[in-house]
Parts: sequence; C-alpha cells; structure tokens
Amino acid sequence: MGFDIIMAGCGAISRRWLDYLTTRPDVRIAAIVETNPAPAEAARTKYGLDCPIFGTLDEAISSVKANLVADLTYVTAHRDIVTRALRAGFDVLGEKPMADSEDAVRDILRTVEETGRRYTVMQNRRYIAQVQEIRRLIDSGIMGQSVMTCGEIFVAADMGSIRNQLEFPQLQDNNIHMFDQARYMSHANPVSVWYHSFNPKGSKYTGDAAGVAVFEMDNGSVFSFRGYNGAEGMHTSWDHVWRICCERGTVVWDGFGDVKAQYTDQLGTYVYHDLSIPAPKDPPDQHALALKDMLDACAAGRPALTDCHDNVYSIAMVLASVKSIREKRRVGIEVLDREPYLILH
Ligand SMILES: NC(=O)c1ccc[n+]([C@@H]2O[C@H](COP(=O)([O-])OP(=O)(O)OC[C@H]3O[C@@H](n4cnc5c(N)ncnc54)[C@H](O)[C@@H]3O)[C@@H](O)[C@H]2O)c1
Repeated sequence: MGFDIIMAGCGAISRRWLDYLTTRPDVRIAAIVETNPAPAEAARTKYGLDCPIFGTLDEAISSVKANLVADLTYVTAHRDIVTRALRAGFDVLGEKPMADSEDAVRDILRTVEETGRRYTVMQNRRYIAQVQEIRRLIDSGIMGQSVMTCGEIFVAADMGSIRNQLEFPQLQDNNIHMFDQARYMSHANPVSVWYHSFNPKGSKYTGDAAGVAVFEMDNGSVFSFRGYNGAEGMHTSWDHVWRICCERGTVVWDGFGDVKAQYTDQLGTYVYHDLSIPAPKDPPDQHALALKDMLDACAAGRPALTDCHDNVYSIAMVLASVKSIREKRRVGIEVLDREPYLILH
C-alpha cells in the first residue's frame, strides 16, 4: 500500500515527521496545508517536495489525490482538522495532545465511530527502547503487578509557539508524554486525579510551569507525578525519571541509561535478584519508530499502539487534571466506548 499524505501544519514538529516520511519510497507528500505559508515553503525546499501548499484542509482535499491526513497543527486546531479529515473519508495520524477540551475529545471519538475511520495519536515516548523493556518486564509477571509508579521531570523548556500562552503550559502541552508512559509501563489506566498546579517564584512562564499530582489507577496502584518546566539546574531527562514498585520488586530508570530492577521470589526474605537491561548504544529516533508502527497499522487495517481509543485515557488524565486544579478537588475519570465517551466527575 502506498501513502499519499496531506500534511496539515508545517511547524517545528513537521521536521521530525518529514525526516522519516521522506525516507520511505511508499510515501508521497501530496499537499501541505498551512495558515502561514513561510514554514511550508521552507519545508518544501529543504525536503525537495513536489507538492502544492493550501491555506485550508478543504481546499487540499478537493484538489489533490490522497489517502491519509497528518495533523501537525497545534492543539487548539486538532478538533477541526481531525473531524474534517475523518468526515471526508480519511484515516488520520496526528500529533499529541488529542484535544484541549472534553467536548473536543467527545466530538473526535463520535466522528471516528460515525465514519468508521481510524485516528492515531503520536506518543513517541512509548517507542523508547527502555520504556518498551520496562513494559515487557512488568508484563512478564516476575515482579507481580504495579502498586506505585513515580515519575518526575525537571527541565528548562523553551515553551515557544502558542504553548506559553496556555494557562497550564506544562500540563496542557507536555505532561501527556509522562502520563501516557506511566499508563503504558505500569499497565494501568486512570480512575481519578488530585492535581496541585503552581508557577514557582522566578519562573519565566506566564502560566503554571510546575505541578504535583496523585492519580489512582484501575489496578489499585497510584501514580505520583511531580515536575517543573522552568527548573534551574540539575535537569532530569525529558524522558523522565521513573520508579515503579510492584508486588515483588521495583524497576527504576533515570531516563537516560540502563533499566535496573530488583525482585524477590519470596516476600519477607529481603533477598533480591538484580536485573540490568542495557541502554541501546545508538537508539533509533522515537518519531521514526512510532511512524513506522502507525503506517504498518494502516497498511494492515489494524489499530496502532496509540489508537485514539487507547489515547483517550491519556488525554483524560490531562483534562481531569485541569478540572482538579480549577475546582481544587479530586476528579474521577471514566472512559466509555460509547456516548458520552468521557466523563469527568
Ligand atoms: N511528539 C512530540 O514530541 C512533540 C514535540 C513538539 C510538538 N508536538 C506537538 O506537535 C503539534 C505542533 O507543534 P509545533 O511545535 O510543530 O508547533 P508550531 O507552532 O511550530 O507549528 C504548528 C503549525 O501549525 C500551523 N497551523 C495552525 N493551525 C492550522 C490550521 N488550522 N491549518 C493549517 N495550519 C495550521 C501553524 O501555522 C504552525 O506553522 C502540537 O500539538 C505539539 O504539542 C509534539
């Protein structure tokens, strides 16, 4: 199967997509859709693309032959681009986060169901070798199921684009990576959150750049998050620092190097087996691995690992966190495979 892709949005992240897509002989960029033609023209020159540029998705759909839409616009535009593309009969691959409101999530999932098309959301961190190893380790059952997952990120982020205009820039733009990784590695989905958000003294961000949260998960475990996107010094990895306690063992990863774990065959003896899973020497690009999986899934007619029906749990963690901050309370999370798809209570 060949892929003729209409690419909506041609900003910073489109370079990661184009770096991979332009290596594939079975992929053709059929059109770029951009409200700002300058980056689209620059991409066309850089990647030697022979495709027209349009100002709207509708113009592109009615003008070129294509069979897939990539949505690389920013979060406030995702609902419009994704639902328009689905209604026109396209499957859609799109950048995270899926949407910026409960209403938009419902609209997108409803449109997926009504059209019978697929929508897959980019969650590239799942494809990091160590993340996959942690998932495999927990799935193997030697340590039992997860009981407590701890993740933290302390970085100095360049919150360019529209991101620094968001009310909770860390939470609404970036945290979905960590939330999605926590779900994937610990093999659990969220049922509630209590989120405390704040903008530390000295922060150069307009909105809240830091937060601390407690999520209850559906296997009875707890996921604890803490992070600050304006931290001065001692930065963590962008892939986060992790500790996952399980019934009979613990796995830790500093977000850079080897995965380390200890587990016991007999509780109470404090005798542990040590495990060390080495980091790959030359890790492949996360976006390339994710895009390969997405395109393989399209070709096979199966849902990809980060299909919207899975990803709704990750975006629900963000939206429920926002509600928790606003209402200063614990918020319950319920995901349904039918209307109303997502309930935050
Ligand atoms: N997966 C990752 O690691 C990762 C990293 C960075 C950004 N992202 C995500 O990628 C998306 C884009 O981020 P970015 O950093 O490339 O932003 P950006 O601002 O650099 O690019 C977005 C582009 O979309 C265009 N655009 C907006 N609305 C449009 C519309 N309706 N039609 C056509 N074009 C439109 C803008 O003109 C802009 O050029 C965001 O959702 C962001 O969260 C993901």
